[in-house]
Amino acid sequence: MICTTMFRTMFRLVARITMLSWVPLLTRLVALASSTGSHGCKCISTDDCWPDASAFAKLASEVSQPLVQPFPTASACYPVSDPSGNCTEVQTLWGDGNWRSNQAGSMQESNYETFTFDNGTISACYRDTALGVPCEQGSVPVIGVDARTLEDVQAGVKFARVHNLRLVVKNTGHDFLGRSAGRGSFVIWTHHMKNITVHDTFTPFGGRKNEKYSQAITLGAGVQWHEAYDAANGANRTLVGGLSAGGSVGAAGGWLLGGGHSALSPTYGLGVDNVLEISIVVASGEHIKANSHKNTDLFWALRGGGGGTYGIVTSVTYRTHPLQQVIAGFLTTSIKSSTPGTPPILVKLISEFFRMSPNLSDAGWGGYGLMAPSAPGESLAMQFVAIAPNSSWSAANDSFLPLIANVASLAANSSIDDGGLLNITFASTFPVESFHAWLTQFIDSGTAETGGNVMIGSRLLPKALLDVNSTRAAETWLGLPGITFHLVAGGAVSKTDPDATGLNPAWRKGVLHAAFGSGWPEGTSSADIEQIANGIKQNLTLIENLSPNAGAYLNEASLFETDFQQTFFGNHYHKLKAIKKRYDPTDLFIVPKGVGSEDWDEQLHCRRRK
Ligand SMILES: Cc1cc2nc3c(=O)[nH]c(=O)nc-3n(C[C@H](O)[C@H](O)[C@H](O)COP(=O)(O)OP(=O)(O)OC[C@H]3O[C@@H](n4cnc5c(N)ncnc54)[C@H](O)[C@@H]3O)c2cc1C
Ligand SMILES: *[C@@H]1O[C@H](CO)[C@@H](O)[C@H](O)[C@H]1NC(C)=O
Ligand SMILES: *[C@@H]1O[C@H](CO)[C@@H](O)[C@H](O)[C@H]1NC(C)=O
Ligand SMILES: *[C@@H]1O[C@H](CO)[C@@H](O)[C@H](O)[C@H]1NC(C)=O
Ligand SMILES: *[C@@H]1O[C@H](CO)[C@@H](O)[C@H](O)[C@H]1NC(C)=O
Ligand SMILES: *[C@@H]1O[C@H](CO)[C@@H](O)[C@H](O)[C@H]1NC(C)=O
Ligand SMILES: *[C@@H]1O[C@H](CO)[C@@H](O)[C@H](O)[C@H]1NC(C)=O
Ligand SMILES: *[C@@H]1O[C@H](CO)[C@@H](O)[C@H](O)[C@H]1NC(C)=O
Ligand SMILES: *[C@@H]1O[C@H](CO)[C@@H](O)[C@H](O)[C@H]1NC(C)=O
Ligand SMILES: *[C@@H]1O[C@H](CO)[C@@H](O)[C@H](O)[C@H]1NC(C)=O
Ligand SMILES: *[C@@H]1O[C@H](CO)[C@@H](O)[C@H](O)[C@H]1NC(C)=O
Ligand SMILES: *[C@@H]1O[C@H](CO)[C@@H](O)[C@H](O)[C@H]1NC(C)=O
Repeated sequence: MICTTMFRTMFRLVARITMLSWVPLLTRLVALASSTGSHGCKCISTDDCWPDASAFAKLASEVSQPLVQPFPTASACYPVSDPSGNCTEVQTLWGDGNWRSNQAGSMQESNYETFTFDNGTISACYRDTALGVPCEQGSVPVIGVDARTLEDVQAGVKFARVHNLRLVVKNTGHDFLGRSAGRGSFVIWTHHMKNITVHDTFTPFGGRKNEKYSQAITLGAGVQWHEAYDAANGANRTLVGGLSAGGSVGAAGGWLLGGGHSALSPTYGLGVDNVLEISIVVASGEHIKANSHKNTDLFWALRGGGGGTYGIVTSVTYRTHPLQQVIAGFLTTSIKSSTPGTPPILVKLISEFFRMSPNLSDAGWGGYGLMAPSAPGESLAMQFVAIAPNSSWSAANDSFLPLIANVASLAANSSIDDGGLLNITFASTFPVESFHAWLTQFIDSGTAETGGNVMIGSRLLPKALLDVNSTRAAETWLGLPGITFHLVAGGAVSKTDPDATGLNPAWRKGVLHAAFGSGWPEGTSSADIEQIANGIKQNLTLIENLSPNAGAYLNEASLFETDFQQTFFGNHYHKLKAIKKRYDPTDLFIVPKGVGSEDWDEQLHCRRRK
């Protein structure tokens, strides 16, 4: 009896304890399930929810090409990873942007192929096999669709949505923030969507019959600048586009979606100012056209809201400009100095360049100020290469020769022992047949520009700063590593209504897009890379303090911005996010430091708890 009573009492006690402890636990488990389950996390290749072979086989049967299984760039040098690979080719073409873009798994900046675990171990596949590190997949997507048709893109989007996959859209892999990579992800690779059409006249979908643009050009998502330029030139037209060795940057992907700058921008505006229509597959799988008549909210957002965020662009139609003679301008210098550090004459030189930049871009000049020593052992000096695309030679001289004259007078007063000896090594202007001829002769050197491990940061330097504080700006920027000044704003860029597109309004106040960066050799430990990252964070503090809220170009910027929403999107952020919710309610398209990314963890794997 006593046993029965005791049993009953114990039973009640146990029941109560169980109730007490299990009810909240169950609630917590349910909560956990909903935050890490199908709605809270995306599936990556190491998760149980990753689709099985039969699901992938079914997808393969729905698309035009076999599924791709991307490998890191160097995998051919590791027979275990890629037995059929050609390591000689990897070693020879490592820095070639076009070769890299042809590899599904290759990123232009090698560090974005790597993944660092919490314990500091780096999963990577190094070119230098002598480091003795086995080749691993890192952040390279594991499988995906090699899209050639609209239906391929739609099948890929649907598959990623139905299986709740961490989806990556990759075009050329040039992204400086690693937005075209993702550990354990499923990739839709747009590189082979190479259609190009030149239209005698183009009327946007839904536009009035009399709204006609002559010689507009439609580019498939995978077209690269060298291909687009050749096509435009073949049609006797000029197209506003990016510049890089070999013209390997994508002409209808991330470049446009983030803004798209060009040496032609001070005359003709940015990429987003030249686009007439964008065709896109959105998260629902629907293929729609966005222009100034249809889906205007999406068209606004796509022009600056950043790549990989609203859907998969399948083609883009740009306006073109007349093919005409252009004026090239050069100002290259050398500096000799007897003291270490930044010679004061270099500060004066850059300050002068800053001060003159607003006038140059207002007159239509666009170009690049690069810092390099003119001979080994010499101090850094400036090499400025620019173009005035729609100007007579004499009008171009009116704005360019004052810069040369001012620098010449700085040079005349300089001395090696007193602040450094400045010399103009080449300064001139001259006509060139066309933009295409200019970039082929002077810019498109074809030299290796990619394949390193780099982190960069940037700011759009406003006219107000350059007018008033050019010396302070020069001092600050000359304290940073690896600087470049792109004269790609001002002029026509600043004459456009800042709210006409979703682009960061900071672009409309800026004149120079100034960037800096640091690199490191492969094999560097994660602790040492973190040191470099800490330096970059300090660098960012300095340039933010120099010109608070000046904003930055999201395509060439840092992952470490403390307020990326403000810095990359300014006061357009909330509207961009609202439009994203409309077209991508489940966050299928999320990229690092992109619109809506703050709701996800760093790996973009799971939603952050509110
Ligand atoms: C060597 C070099 C030179 C450069 N020169 C310039 C320059 O002159 N001017 C300039 O403005 N920028 C320049 N950039 C920066 C360039 O704009 C960015 O790297 C841009 O992200 C490249 O876009 P992509 O489509 O070629 O590359 P990717 O890395 O493949 O894609 C970049 C981003 O866009 C997304 N994306 C790509 N295609 C699509 C699509 N079809 N639909 C939806 N999302 C897509 C990706 O998901 C990713 O988030 C340069 C970069 C490098 C490395
Ligand atoms: C490997 O690549 C190199 C360099 O591109 C080339 O010369 C060689 O023919 C290739 N070898 C094979 C087996 O394809
Ligand atoms: C670090 O973590 C990764 C992933 O969990 C693991 O594979 C690796 O062995 C770990 N490295 C060390 C040194 O503990
Ligand atoms: C590319 O152009 C061809 C020929 O005009 C057309 O059949 C095809 O559908 C186009 N592809 C895409 C992806 O637009
Ligand atoms: C481009 O211009 C050249 C020279 O004027 C001319 O010969 C050629 O036919 C033109 N091409 C096109 C496609 O109009
Ligand atoms: C810019 O041009 C204007 C008008 O020609 C001129 O008054 C001004 O001095 C120029 N600015 C600089 C820094 O030379
Ligand atoms: C090009 O120059 C002509 C002549 O000066 C001018 O009328 C036209 O507006 C200019 N175009 C642009 C885009 O600046
Ligand atoms: C150069 O030196 C002369 C004489 O010292 C001075 O008058 C002139 O202002 C100086 N010029 C510059 C650009 O510093
Ligand atoms: C300045 O540069 C020119 C052109 O390269 C060169 O001929 C000249 O010797 C240089 N002068 C000095 C003082 O270095
Ligand atoms: C423009 O300036 C250059 C000097 O760089 C000069 O050689 C040329 O004659 C000038 N052209 C015109 C049309 O003024
Ligand atoms: C110029 O610098 C001073 C501090 O030296 C600062 O107070 C001022 O706001 C700056 N002006 C601009 C336009 O950057
Ligand atoms: C900028 O970053 C680099 C790279 O980490 C670092 O070495 C340097 O000290 C930093 N410079 C400043 C002025 O913060």
